[in-house]
Amino acid sequence: MNEWDERFERVLVKICENENTEAIWLDLLSQLEFAGCRKIVKGVPFERVDVEVLNHVMEEASHAFLLKTLVEKSHLPAKQAWEKNPLSELGWTYFQTLDQGVSKMQKGTLPYPAVSWIVEQRVLDIYPRYLQHTRNLGVKRVVQRILAQEKRHSALFGDERFSEDFKRRAIDWEAGLWADFVSGLERWLTPAMAEWERSRTNTARVL
Ligand SMILES: [Fe+2]
Ligand SMILES: [Fe+2]
Repeated sequence: MNEWDERFERVLVKICENENTEAIWLDLLSQLEFAGCRKIVKGVPFERVDVEVLNHVMEEASHAFLLKTLVEKSHLPAKQAWEKNPLSELGWTYFQTLDQGVSKMQKGTLPYPAVSWIVEQRVLDIYPRYLQHTRNLGVKRVVQRILAQEKRHSALFGDERFSEDFKRRAIDWEAGLWADFVSGLERWLTPAMAEWERSRTNTARVL
């Protein structure tokens, strides 16, 4: 594990310790799935849309739906609109900067397979780790279902022939953005965890 893997692991542990932070995290994942879906819809020209592309759009939309449904069931403030999620900007910045950077590296070709390839690398890192830490059985069921589909997507884009040079540059670019994303999560969690600790101590005092 590198430094950022370890830091993300700690972030996940903290997120899963608290229902409220986990709902906000789920809400962010739902947004990122939606961003992925939107990217395919906007990025694939009309004449290139086939059954495989439609299936990918459908599955990414269903991931956003399944995750948002969990948030709606959570009885927590994260039920609110997406723009009010404190992590929205962080997540969209990660996704859009990644998309723009990788698209530039593949100038002159359709960016859809390359962006999908690099995104799936990270997705297959996040979901199994999240699955390990969440204690919510509903979340476990949904994440397992999503993960099975993500593995198929990854195999699909793994078969694309990207050059070694491109893969190395894309992985480096993503790693930098990922470090910013994890730092942002840490910054967000610090006061959130302090607040939670405070309310827990206050409740204990009342009892
Ligand atoms: Fe997905
Ligand atoms: Fe996917």
